[in-house]
Amino acid sequence: MEKYISKLPDKVYKHELLSYLQEFQDMFGYIDLNFIEALSRNSSIPSGKIFGVASFYNQFRFKPKGKYHVQVCEGSSCHVNAEIGFIDEIKKTLKTDEKDTSNDGLYSLEIIPCMGACSQGPVISINGKFYTKVTKEDIKIIFSNLDL
Ligand code: FES
Repeated sequence: MEKYISKLPDKVYKHELLSYLQEFQDMFGYIDLNFIEALSRNSSIPSGKIFGVASFYNQFRFKPKGKYHVQVCEGSSCHVNAEIGFIDEIKKTLKTDEKDTSNDGLYSLEIIPCMGACSQGPVISINGKFYTKVTKEDIKIIFSNLDL
């Protein structure tokens, strides 16, 4: 990461910011604040403004993913089939919030608009493995069976 940051061009233009942010996240899985500081130095744009731009886009996260990256669909089909408080139950179980990572580094959570399995909802994915027709009761079972 330090090596990547040190190779940033001396002059970064405003119109290049998003592509640098995207590239950084693709490589490291999140946007490190040191990278935002480096972009700020090399573009002369305040770091707060760059952070504001990045946080406007839902795709960017600012903490490393957890050992288990959990994606939860909130698309209309999953929403209709989910029990009341379904997503809140997941947040409570993982002790984290959307786009965040639990303090112990085990879980990160991402809410997705649709995961392409609408007839099987509610759908969640843990490190790419899909779980379908998930109930609130299933949540405890699924997460207690993970290899921590
Ligand atoms: S709405 Fe959930 S998978 Fe499409």
